[in-house]
Amino acid sequence: MKILVTGGTGYIGSHTVVELQNYGYEVVIVDNLSNSYPEVVDNIAKITGKKPAFEKFDLTEYGKTKTFFEKHPDVEAMIHFAAYKAVGESVANPLKYYDNNLRSLINLLSCMKDHRAHALVFSSSCTVYGQPEQLPVSEDSPIQKAWSPYGNTKQISEEIIHDSINAHEGINGIALRYFNPIGAHDSALIGEYPIGVPDNLVPYITQTAIGKREALRVFGNDYDTPDGTPIRDYIHVVDLAKAHVIAVDRFIKEKNKKRFEVFNLGTGRGNTVLEVVNAFERVSGEKLNYKIVDRRQGDVEKVWADTSFANKELGWKAERDLDDMMRTAWQWEKALAEKENKQ
Ligand code: NAD
Ligand code: WQD
Repeated sequence: MKILVTGGTGYIGSHTVVELQNYGYEVVIVDNLSNSYPEVVDNIAKITGKKPAFEKFDLTEYGKTKTFFEKHPDVEAMIHFAAYKAVGESVANPLKYYDNNLRSLINLLSCMKDHRAHALVFSSSCTVYGQPEQLPVSEDSPIQKAWSPYGNTKQISEEIIHDSINAHEGINGIALRYFNPIGAHDSALIGEYPIGVPDNLVPYITQTAIGKREALRVFGNDYDTPDGTPIRDYIHVVDLAKAHVIAVDRFIKEKNKKRFEVFNLGTGRGNTVLEVVNAFERVSGEKLNYKIVDRRQGDVEKVWADTSFANKELGWKAERDLDDMMRTAWQWEKALAEKENKQ
């Protein structure tokens, strides 16, 4: 059974390819390498013993996307990770984000209509909830006006998928709303590889500890939370990856069922920024240099997932704890540094 994984050399995509292959699926990756490296394909092979097929092209190019489906008529389902994801950059350059994130999705859906591939798993985000009124936040909580063009591409994408499924027979979709994926594979062969200065907390922590950054800036400690820093639902990327295998399986097992479903993927627990820092110090034995600075514009105070729908319907539950997330993130950072020192 062949599965297309777009963005499969990226952070979450690469971990998902590993889990898909371990489960027995045949994978073909499409990625334009705009935010990842070709070595990831070899590292996936080192972990799984099998090299996934890889095609490098840009999914915003309709002709190339169509040719891909003609060449791979046996693709049964696809997981669409490929997108730009830097929130700040999307505010500065919104058209870049609307163009890339929406055009690639529209091209895929257009090809799905005409080919055998019948199912789409889409990478959405908890950002669609903004600051929810009720916590934990469940899938039927209201969607709030997106703060960033990036967040807006996720909201619009969910609507595009929903409308396409309504209009066209034979297309099904599942949107997975990720909370905050962190950590890396236990092998330390794949992980998050931010280009430039990281926006996200955990790569910033590990880069500071390894000496690439001077100090972590903690954005605000005057929120209404136990230690004043914001709360997020951090989830291990391998737990997240496993949910994608189950989502694909759901389509394959019930092929003729028309569906558009949405699931929260988190642990159901929230941690503050300082709890994450403490967990890092505990598992790494390193002292982290950090300072409290002003709040970051657009940050919500607290959000964590109600995962009961995903737990029940998918039979999936996140298993790995915050220490495990920080331990694997640190192992990955150290492996990267070792590689860079050798070069
Ligand atoms: P990533 O940048 O590591 O991976 C995305 C991959 O897509 C990259 O390898 C990039 O080269 C590729 N890509 C981008 N545009 C492309 C195009 N037009 N054609 C072909 N390839 C293209 O990001 P990630 O963290 O693995 O995120 C994967 C998905 O999950 C994204 O859709 C992201 O928005 C979503 N998401 C991520 C997070 C997070 O915190 N990492 C949270 C919620 C949702
Ligand atoms: C986590 C916490 C920061 C960096 C973003 C996107 C969201 C989703 C996940 C894709 C916050 C604090 C961070 C730093 C800090 N991505 N922080 N110093 O903001 O929850 O979500 O990534 O869909 O859409 O918005 O994640 O990792 O940036 O921040 O204090 O240098 O860490 O204030 O409380 P966030 P994050």
